[in-house]
Amino acid sequence: MEIHGEKETMLYQSDFLVIGSGIAGLTFALKAAKHGTVNLITKKERADSNTNYAQGGIASVMSQNDSFDDHIRDTLICGVGICHKDAVRQIVETGPERIKELMKWGVEFSRDEKGQLDLGREGGHSCNRIVHAKDLTGHEVELSLLNAVKTNPDISVFEEHTAIELITEHHLDKTVQKVIKSPHCWGTYALDTTQNRVDRFLAKAVLLATGSIGHVYLHTTNPDIATGDGVAMAYRAGAWVGNMEFMQFHPTSLFHPQANSFLISEAVRGFGAILRTRDGETFMENYHEMKDLAPRDIVARAIDAELKKRGDDCVYLDVTHSPADRVIERFPNIYNTCLQYGIDCTKEMIPVVPAAHYACGGVATDMHSRTSIVGLYAAGEVAFTGVHGANRLASNSLLEALVFAHLANLNAAEFIKHVSVPADKIPEWSEEGTLNSEEWVLISHDRQEIQRLMWDYVGIVRSDLRLSRAERRIRLIADEIEDFYKRTRVNEELLELRNLACVATLIIDSARFRKESRGLHFTTDYPERDDRFWGHDTLIHQHFGIQMCLPGPFEW
Ligand code: FAD
Ligand code: SIN
Repeated sequence: MEIHGEKETMLYQSDFLVIGSGIAGLTFALKAAKHGTVNLITKKERADSNTNYAQGGIASVMSQNDSFDDHIRDTLICGVGICHKDAVRQIVETGPERIKELMKWGVEFSRDEKGQLDLGREGGHSCNRIVHAKDLTGHEVELSLLNAVKTNPDISVFEEHTAIELITEHHLDKTVQKVIKSPHCWGTYALDTTQNRVDRFLAKAVLLATGSIGHVYLHTTNPDIATGDGVAMAYRAGAWVGNMEFMQFHPTSLFHPQANSFLISEAVRGFGAILRTRDGETFMENYHEMKDLAPRDIVARAIDAELKKRGDDCVYLDVTHSPADRVIERFPNIYNTCLQYGIDCTKEMIPVVPAAHYACGGVATDMHSRTSIVGLYAAGEVAFTGVHGANRLASNSLLEALVFAHLANLNAAEFIKHVSVPADKIPEWSEEGTLNSEEWVLISHDRQEIQRLMWDYVGIVRSDLRLSRAERRIRLIADEIEDFYKRTRVNEELLELRNLACVATLIIDSARFRKESRGLHFTTDYPERDDRFWGHDTLIHQHFGIQMCLPGPFEW
């Protein structure tokens, strides 16, 4: 790694640059370090990621009673006709190797009395196939990977560094305004929030692993880092983005004013918990033959329908019929967190509501995790690989992140042998004409307004009227933010706001374009699935517009 620096700004160079320190970024970094130097930037502290909060576990065929065909079939059924079958096959068939690799890095999964992996169950799965570490799987994975990274001399981690924009040809010469069909990415400008300084991170290959977009909605299970930065940056840099209309709402987040939509894992239903209305009635049998373990879109919509029908604020998850010691042993995190809010879940029902949870769409990638920008790879939740189709099967996302980070590494390790970075032509970040704004009030309510509009109009149930109303309002807000951004010295709050506005417009445009209901996208104007769209994705590009195309593999 080279470092050139003056007080003003820093230039960091490495073979690989990783943006994000969740499961995708960390596994890629550990593998890439065998082929060259790695710089990894992350916007808060290194463990701040969705990965750290994952509860249920990782779906994979790890038992003799299970089969690849069954896992593939469950994934395809859940994805309602638009999963990319080659991508699904890839994660299912190579998943077990990736799980074993995690164990080598020190991850300890829960085991039964015989020492076999304890496999949990979640919605949409036809058998028990979720490896987990009690209900703290993500924390166990994140800490183990961070430990492995800490001892690797070829990986440098930069905390409190927020990527602002990906560096492409457009930064080499600002006078060139033409549209480049396949731009090349050489790194990113990143705000060091401790120094209030914008640094350049350059590399031969860049992995975008910035995770989710949950905070585009008012209520989300996601931690604060999930503001869609990766999708927005890639879109602005000229990447194709896909299937943004498929936002997954988790059916059961804790309903409590202070609980920040804390997740009550689907594994609790897999363990036997039952959804009930306020008066104790069960209702899932009216919606799906798999009842409480139906795919997530169906359970979330059923809850939404019950709440609207009854005028209630929440439904309840009942696990009181299970022995208390088994509940506490299997779900210590959920038990203790509920207790903190005055709910003893072994004795009383847990009040729950749906919350925005997972983005099935993202930056479109091929089977090597390459985006349509040369040198830019994407893996994890920021990527749209085609695995999840119109609805992700529970616990398939950590698996997808592991497998596609691995594929990215295989390709990038070869790719860097043929790249040189035009470092001397890449200018420092320019703040010309910007101010420390005194008019923050102009945009201070925008974040909440976007989140509320998205929640009310672009949520679990949509309609043409709601979508066009959201579109008009958010477009106006986004334009105002862009204008403000151009005049203002960068700061993290503004960067996130700009990205949230961008992602909100991508979701709305995609949702308006899909004139049918499928999986997570349900609209009252087209309540049926339209099989002319069987196998179609929604792809958006900043310059080439929006189109539906047959699913991949994408070949750039
Ligand atoms: P993340 O783990 O979110 O990491 C993203 C990283 O990028 C973070 O380090 C973040 O700080 C960084 N970053 C973001 N923007 C920037 C920027 N501009 N500059 C620099 N760094 C940036 N999936 C399952 O398969 N099983 C489960 O049991 C499960 N449970 C879940 C429970 C909860 C509460 C949540 C929220 C999600 C759960 N998921 C689960 C989903 C799964 O956790 C995520 O899909 C997965 O962890 C995403 O990993 P990632 O590496 O892509 O992103
Ligand atoms: C959960 O534990 O319910 C979350 C699982 C997931 O999002 O895949």
